[in-house]
Amino acid sequence: MLDSRLAELARAAPALRVLTAATDLEHYGRDWTRRWTPAPCAIALPASIDEVQAIARWASAQRVALVPSGGRTGLSGGAVAANGELVVSFERMNRVLDFNAVDRTLTVQPGIALEAVHRAAAEHGLIYPVDFGARGSCSIGGNIATNAGGIRVIRYGNTREWIAGLKLVTASGELLDLNRGLIKNSSGYDLRQLVIGAEGTLGFVVEATLKLTDPPPASQVMLFAVPAMDALMRVFGACRSKLHLSAFEFFTDRALHHVVAHGAQNPFSEISPYYVVTEFDAATDTQQQTALDVFEQCVNEGWVSDGVMSQSEAQAAALWRLRDTITESLAPHRPYKNDISVRISAVPAFLDEMSALLTREYPQFDVVWFGHIGDGNLHINVVKPEGLDDTAFIAQCEQVTKQLAAMLHKYGGSISAEHGIGLVKKDYLQSTRSVAEIALMRGVRATFDPLGLLNPGKLFE
Ligand code: MLT
Ligand code: ZN
Repeated sequence: MLDSRLAELARAAPALRVLTAATDLEHYGRDWTRRWTPAPCAIALPASIDEVQAIARWASAQRVALVPSGGRTGLSGGAVAANGELVVSFERMNRVLDFNAVDRTLTVQPGIALEAVHRAAAEHGLIYPVDFGARGSCSIGGNIATNAGGIRVIRYGNTREWIAGLKLVTASGELLDLNRGLIKNSSGYDLRQLVIGAEGTLGFVVEATLKLTDPPPASQVMLFAVPAMDALMRVFGACRSKLHLSAFEFFTDRALHHVVAHGAQNPFSEISPYYVVTEFDAATDTQQQTALDVFEQCVNEGWVSDGVMSQSEAQAAALWRLRDTITESLAPHRPYKNDISVRISAVPAFLDEMSALLTREYPQFDVVWFGHIGDGNLHINVVKPEGLDDTAFIAQCEQVTKQLAAMLHKYGGSISAEHGIGLVKKDYLQSTRSVAEIALMRGVRATFDPLGLLNPGKLFE
């Protein structure tokens, strides 16, 4: 049965590369969640838009579900193929297609890595400002599917702000050219924005035109040791009022413990419960002096107990390493991940209530907090104790997620700030989106994909 369908695919797209070896099915069928057993029927590696269209037409005719696949660094199961789907990997569609100096745009294929986009923009003296730790292996297609955020959102916003146009192959194999790089386009529903963050459920992005901008002025990085949780947002307020920030990130002593065990250098001799990494414009003596003044103010107020300011790019990189490598240092411990957000103004009250919940519910677990606190986005990772089996561990964590979801509902927050809903958080979607909203989302999805073949089971059933 499968062989005959794959033979049909080979007839529809004779040059299409298709993999069926067990090691490939495992490799391409999973993402960083490692929670589901990969079981795709095969992997297709299209090299052109025509081939993606042929795959979509074939899938409709044969009723085969499709899972789009980029760098598979996702943390929500959005790229998992565990039910006989065909994985459509964009890794061969990874080129820069065009740079337009007047429009200041870069047109790329979806499989290009974020870091390669950064390099391509730099060749033209510009930047693509979305950035995060997985930059070397995540793909732009995946970034668009989840509306990825990361460490520069505080200054530049999420992926959605930086997409000038998208080409999309629909479930029926049509090619849509959405927004075409226009700055102004008041012509009805913006389907480009609907596709961003849709987790591959409305069609497959086959080309993206990215906005670029000027590089920021020279910057410096400060690492603060913060003795108490309620000081975190006070430090943020002080920094934001006087400095032009391009990042404001926090992590706890448990996060520091894991990154140091993973090879990073701790610049402090004393342990502190919380740390902040902040980056800010420091091109002039005045800006550098202001940063020192802010540090002094924070120390005098008792909000900061120690600090380090980078004096070179190498030092800045070493300080960033403490934050950037948290995910990979935790990965071997198979953490249960939460990626939540509330409005910035709600962070202090939310932190209080949430930390009481976590202390009460997780007395026996290693709970690691970190994230983009300046955007109201916290990552709460629960490390799986050695010896506890996966199912029991996840079941315990899900009990706490239910309570966390109820709290987020109360605060008007979100169960997924930037990782996406995927498989991991779909049972909690109602904490963030109303029943009426979800009904409309279902209708949109059914319009784009009436047969339910695009990344089924993700986001909602
Ligand atoms: C991060 O902020 O480092 C990423 O969102 C990844 C993670 O949460 O592990
Ligand atoms: Zn993050």
